[in-house]
Amino acid sequence: MNAFFQMLKKDHVEVKGILGQLKQTKESAPKKREELFKKLREELVPHMKAEESAFYPPLLEKKEAREDAMEGIEEHHVSELVLKELEKMPKDDDKWGAKVAVFKELVEHHIKEEEGTLFKIAEKALDPDEFKTISKKFEQDKEKIKKNL
Ligand SMILES: [Fe+2]
Repeated sequence: MNAFFQMLKKDHVEVKGILGQLKQTKESAPKKREELFKKLREELVPHMKAEESAFYPPLLEKKEAREDAMEGIEEHHVSELVLKELEKMPKDDDKWGAKVAVFKELVEHHIKEEEGTLFKIAEKALDPDEFKTISKKFEQDKEKIKKNL
């Protein structure tokens, strides 16, 4: 597996871990929810935005990767909408837990498709030099977004 995918997978593991913890929280512990949700946003938002700026654009240009890349981008878009709803909703609302459970499924599905399908297509569509450029841009963009979050 190439170094760029290893980097993305590490982020995915981190995000899945926080989502697992969040799902365990109860409406009686809104502070804990706030804390974990902040951690989730700080991990997930820079990761998704950096994928959108560094990884997805070169894939959109390759005929064999375009359709899956477009689906990935749409999944990011839906994730962002739900993330905004989760942010606005009071953490002691009993609907919050249900929304987090659905959000967790959405993100897990997206990660599974990325790692299972998109990585394989990308590996064939992009050459090592392109991966080097993508990797560097991903890291730089992620840092920048993290600082401005
Ligand atoms: Fe993604």
